[in-house]
Amino acid sequence: MSRRILVTSALPYANGPIHLGHMVEYIQTDIWVRYQRSCGHEVHYVCADDAHGTAIMLRAEQQGVTPEALIAAVSAEHQRDFSDFFITFDHYHSTHSEENRHYSTLIYERLKAAGHISTRPVQQLFDPKKGLFLADRFIKGQCPKCQDDDQYGDSCERCGATYAATELKNAHSTISGATPVLRESEHYFFELPHFADMLATWTRQGTLQAEVANKLGEWFASGLAAWDISRDAPYFGFEIPGASGKYFYVWLDAPIGYMASFQALCKATGLDFDDWWRADSDSELYHFIGKDIVYFHALFWPAMLEGAGFRKPSGVFAHGFLTVDGTKMSKSRGTFIKARTYLEHLPAEPLRYYFAGKLNAGVEDIDLNLEDFVARVNADLVGKVVNIASRCAGFIERNFANTLAAVAHPLLDAAVAAGDSIGQAYEKREYARAVREIMALADQANQYIDEHKPWTLAKKDAQDPKIAEVCSVGIELFRQLMTYLAPILPQMAAQACAFLRIDDLHWPSRRRLLGQHVIADFQPLMQRIETQQIKAITDASRETLTPVAPAAAAATPDQAILPTIGIDEFLAIDLRVARIVSATLVEGADKLLCLQLDLGTAGMRQVFAGVRQAYPDPEALVGRLTLMVANLQPRKMKFGISAGMVLAAGPGGGDLYLLSPDSGAQPGMRAR
Ligand code: MSP
Ligand code: ZN
Repeated sequence: MSRRILVTSALPYANGPIHLGHMVEYIQTDIWVRYQRSCGHEVHYVCADDAHGTAIMLRAEQQGVTPEALIAAVSAEHQRDFSDFFITFDHYHSTHSEENRHYSTLIYERLKAAGHISTRPVQQLFDPKKGLFLADRFIKGQCPKCQDDDQYGDSCERCGATYAATELKNAHSTISGATPVLRESEHYFFELPHFADMLATWTRQGTLQAEVANKLGEWFASGLAAWDISRDAPYFGFEIPGASGKYFYVWLDAPIGYMASFQALCKATGLDFDDWWRADSDSELYHFIGKDIVYFHALFWPAMLEGAGFRKPSGVFAHGFLTVDGTKMSKSRGTFIKARTYLEHLPAEPLRYYFAGKLNAGVEDIDLNLEDFVARVNADLVGKVVNIASRCAGFIERNFANTLAAVAHPLLDAAVAAGDSIGQAYEKREYARAVREIMALADQANQYIDEHKPWTLAKKDAQDPKIAEVCSVGIELFRQLMTYLAPILPQMAAQACAFLRIDDLHWPSRRRLLGQHVIADFQPLMQRIETQQIKAITDASRETLTPVAPAAAAATPDQAILPTIGIDEFLAIDLRVARIVSATLVEGADKLLCLQLDLGTAGMRQVFAGVRQAYPDPEALVGRLTLMVANLQPRKMKFGISAGMVLAAGPGGGDLYLLSPDSGAQPGMRAR
């Protein structure tokens, strides 16, 4: 039975380039979409740039362009990246569009009429110089807990404390430098709690992955709160109807962008919008998203849709985050790889294949191991799949006028049968399993050719019909494999079609054999990838650090002498000499270095130290001795556990210089 399916990927922010982390999602979605299309279902795949918000407004201002000009340029770049990775959106739109204004307004007005919108005053820090309310990430100051300078308005990168921006000491706006002041303003709220019952059922009816539903269960347990959906001018977005100077918060109109993009597709193709979005629509709607934005898609979004009388998603599919070589993508290691940088050195398909081989239906993070990537692509695609065709094609071409023999073989039946399970794996987003099963078939095909050795037969009699038979079985198997791989490798599939002289590799066609059939001359289908290409990518991605100028010394508590302590309190501090074994940058924390410290017989320690600004080249620290407090309660930080603190001194407000012992001191020695 043919299904009608609308699919979305999350809308990338228009304030930055597409990177390989994003590509996990768009590749995952595209493979699923191609599989469904290949089965003959009616599928529409839409996306858009997420163009609103303060960040985009400020960036445009910085660059001296209008936000509209900025988002147009970024959208063009995004679309080029997607298209070069063979992502087949049926339409790519923008949240800054008339369609989106229409549906955002409509949904808001329906929610309001139904009593789901309320207003109340909110106190928030305001930048008096810039005339702007400040989100936490635009405020910096001194951590209320550890007094470290230069921490963001929501949490401390040094001690891990979380707090309200108003608790920061000596706070300043990162936009203008001004001291923020508290100011009150009226905000608009969406009454999420009105939908608690609906959500409790909806999140448990198979629309979400089990682990996601469980996570939401925790949120339910702590109670749903009304959601603040307004932001004050100046803001780049849509003004709230009837509320001058108030704008929809970017996350209000972002998911509505899915509808807007689909509406634009309807205009272009004559599809009936309401048929897909009315509350009782029998079409299917799936959102592919990253695990970081589940809250918006599995709570706010279905509640908004329900409240406004639209259909809810049939499924929300969350995936994990990309790591590269086992850690978060890092600009200093050169593993924060932009889609474009990758494409400048390698074709898209190896990455599509590698991600497919790692993806399943869960939300675990997936790792791009660069060495494994090279090995895997070469071994599987070049060594196994392409090899089948290239070994067989020559004989058919030279000795049998490019004509395949009609053949039957149990391996061919087995390959057809395997397609049921492989199809199921695609359907359930268990691509890693699909790839394993396909590669098992490829192994069988190669074994079969190895056993029958057409090259040996050809030495005796190049026209031996047995050669045509063996090579035809090989090429029939190759065609079945390419049918199964086509959702992952669209370009190679197209080349295979040209080689096999067939129109398509649609899923149902796997049951039909080519039989006696003329094929084209064989052309190489994929090239090996080389380690140097990877190196070129990481080299091009590595951002070198320039030394940061010391910040102007500000009045800090450093100048105050602390209260006296007794000798016992002093001796309670386990001060040790430590050798710095490695010092690396911490992605997302511009003040921190991650130090691995050798304490001799006392073992190894990992410590996050706020000394990065004084050491633009952290490598230079390796081998040095320093002093640390070894018995400080370990702290869990965003980036990992910090087990101790190194001693450093500085003027306050910027650089901190590590203390080191004189010669003769050895790692592990106690200092007193
Ligand atoms: N604009 C919002 C989404 C709005 S949807 C109505 C957003 N944009 S984003 O550009 O930050 O991310 C787009 C998608 O890429 C999200 O689903 C996000 O989870 C995913 N990823 C971003 N970085 C990623 C990795 N490093 N790894 C895997 N997916 C990642 O969120
Ligand atoms: Zn702190």
